[in-house]
Order: sequence, then C-alpha cells, then structure tokens
Amino acid sequence: MTNGAAAPQQIHPLKAGLEDVIVSTSEICFIDGHKGRLLYRGYDVDDLVEHSTFEEVVYLLWHGRLPSRKELDVHVKALASTANRRLPSKVLSMLKLFPKKTTPMEILRTGVSALSAFDPDSNDNSREATLRKALRLTAQMPTLVAAWERIRKGKAPVSPNPRLNLAGNFLYMLTGKKPTPLAAKTFDVALILHADHEFNASTFAARVTAGTLSDLHSAIVSGIGTLKGPLHGGANEQVMLMVEKIKDPAKAEAWIRKLLAERGRVMGFGHRVYRVADPRAKHLRRLASELGEQVGNTSYVKILDTIASVMSSEKHMFANVDLYSGAAYAAMGISTDQFTPIFALSRVTGWAAHVLEQHGNNRLIRPRSEYTGPTDAKYVPLSER
Ligand code: ACO
Repeated sequence: MTNGAAAPQQIHPLKAGLEDVIVSTSEICFIDGHKGRLLYRGYDVDDLVEHSTFEEVVYLLWHGRLPSRKELDVHVKALASTANRRLPSKVLSMLKLFPKKTTPMEILRTGVSALSAFDPDSNDNSREATLRKALRLTAQMPTLVAAWERIRKGKAPVSPNPRLNLAGNFLYMLTGKKPTPLAAKTFDVALILHADHEFNASTFAARVTAGTLSDLHSAIVSGIGTLKGPLHGGANEQVMLMVEKIKDPAKAEAWIRKLLAERGRVMGFGHRVYRVADPRAKHLRRLASELGEQVGNTSYVKILDTIASVMSSEKHMFANVDLYSGAAYAAMGISTDQFTPIFALSRVTGWAAHVLEQHGNNRLIRPRSEYTGPTDAKYVPLSER
C-alpha cells in the first residue's frame, strides 16, 4: 500500500459488482445460469407459464406453496377488490399536480412512497401486516400507473373493474376498453415471468432496506429506484428505443454490426447469471410474435430476431427478459416509457416475498469497502487554501 493506509481486514477478496458473491440463503427463487432454468419455490417457470396465473404465482411466492382452491379464491378476490385497488383520493389529486412530462417510473416511485402515508399498517412490520401491505400495494400499483397514463394524456382515470384479473384490469384501466383475450393472456404471462429473479440488483436493494428493519413501502421504493436504471429493468425501454431507431428489419443487421464495431452495449442482451439463453425470453418472443401478427406489426420481432442472431454468432450473447417484452407491450399500444413500470407491477410481488424472508431471519446487510484514499491528509484552514 503506497499511500500509507492500514491494510484492510480483508475477509473476502474484492469482487467487482459482487459477482457470484453469495450474501444470504433464500428459499424463494433458483436460477441455474448454465442450464437456463428458473424456479420459483421449486416450480419451473415454464410450468407456471403453461398452467398457472399471476395471482396464483403471487400466492406461491408469498406463502411458499401452491394454494388450495379456497385459499386461491380468497386471495384472487382480495387482489381484485375495489377497496384494495382504489387509490386514496388525495393520492389521485396529488397525481394531477405533477408536470405532464414526469415519467411513469418517477410517478411510481413517488406514488408508492405516498401510498405508505395512507396505509393503515404503515408502522407495523409484523409478517401479517407486511402481507396485508404487500397485497394492497400489488393491487394499487397498476391503478397508479394506469391513472398517470390517463392524466398525462388529459383523460379521466378509469376505475378498477373487480371482475377482471390483475392483468386484464390493468389493460382496461389504461385504455377504458376490455383487452382482447390474447392481450390479457400475454400480459398475465409477462407478469408471471417478471415476478422474481433471485438476488438481482433491485431485490438486493429492497433486502438491504428491509435489513435495517425498515418497512415494506420503503423497501419497494428502493427496489423501484434500482429497477429504473438501463442496466436493469430500464433495459426494456431502451430496447424499444433501439428498435424505433432501426425501423426497417432490412436495416437491422447493418445497424447492429456497426454498433458492435463501435463497441456499443446492446440492450436486452447479456446477464450476470445466465451463460445460456434466459428461459423467460422464449415465452416473451412467442407472445410478442403472436400479438404482432394479430395487430399487423411483425417488424419489431423481425428486427429483434436479426439482432439476436448477430449477437449469438458474434458475441455468444443471448436475449435476456428485456429483449422481447417491449415488442409485446407495443403491440398492445402501450407507451414505451411504461415498460419499466410494468416490470415493477410484477416484481413488487417478488420484492415483497424477499422483504418477508429478510424480516423473518434478519441480520443487517453491511459489507465493507477496500479503502484506497489517503490516510494522512492535513487539514488546511479555509483562509490558507
Ligand atoms: N452488449 C455488448 N457487450 C456486452 C453486453 C451487451 N449487452 N453485456 C455485456 N457485454 C460485454 C461487456 O462489454 C464486457 O466486455 P469486455 O470484457 O470486453 O469489456 C463483458 O461483456 C462483460 O460485461 P459486464 O458489464 O462486466 O457484465 P455484467 O455482468 O457486469 O453486466 C449486464 C450484466 C449489466 C446485464 C450487461 O450484460 C448489460 O449491460 N446488458 C445490457 C443491459 C440489459 O439488457 N440489462 C438487463 C439485464 S436483465 C434485468 O436486469 C432485468
């Protein structure tokens, strides 16, 4: 050490970005990055996509097992009830005060924080209260996101419809029209696929917050702020901006080869854990393709397929969850800057499961840094500087 710093008490060597560092045990989610497998509570997401619903997956994540028919009915009813989905009128009034240019992700981050002030359990961190808060937030967040979409376009928010599931109701509140069965199904599958993903950056942020014994809403706000970045959940929005720049499938190959030659980063590719294709991407590709055909726009998927083929052959890099999701949302007429908030509407359920797990066996999360700054700086009075 040349600067005279004392050698740090180094228990583990420094790992940039905490790559492959195990910080906790967890029973919620397992990723096999070499085989491309993703399990929630032991169940393969491929099976959940085929047989389950988002509501059932939420129960599985929070309670650690699949529900009985009766348990599922109660859970579905609670998630759909107007009492849980409705926003407090003061939160709705608050939304009308924001400049119209405020992004949906900023609204979501601020709105979740505001909802905490109105939550009857805000000061109770017991498991039961955290479950109640998780249920309310999961029900309220789609209303918040949809209400802002309407308000910023100068339209009146649409009240939630308790007869529709979370996916169908969100699309209904966004447009005022009942979605097609394919759109509702696609959205439900997208919600299943985004619900949890082990110790990704936003979940880790949520757990760090929960680890100080802070409350669920605070942990979710940490998660939303972390998800927003383009290296994480914000990538789905960046992918669509790239597709819109390319426009014509015939130009996609030259465009992407040029970006690679300039050593650019291609959004929607690469992953810290997967060394093979992300198992979620194939489902999203299929659904984006089906929806694209239904609405007569196949060019987005064609552009993405061309990019995927070049990335695979040139970089041995594969699509992650963010590559095709936006093409499906765009086919539903959803604005590009809503893609990352949509991710959060699903991931809130995984974050909540991790907050419950963290609180259930808590130890403050507090790593060290290896100090590389000076250690003998002499204070110079302001008048002498
Ligand atoms: N495009 C081009 N090159 C890439 C990409 C990419 N998408 N991802 C990684 N690389 C290259 C890097 O340039 C680097 O090359 P080098 O060693 O020659 O400098 C090498 O691969 C390692 O990259 P790191 O950034 O160190 O890998 P890391 O594990 O830290 O990053 C990440 C993972 C952030 C996901 C990265 O792959 C990336 O930026 N992808 C694009 C953004 C994206 O799609 N994010 C969403 C991920 S999924 C999710 O969070 C929901």
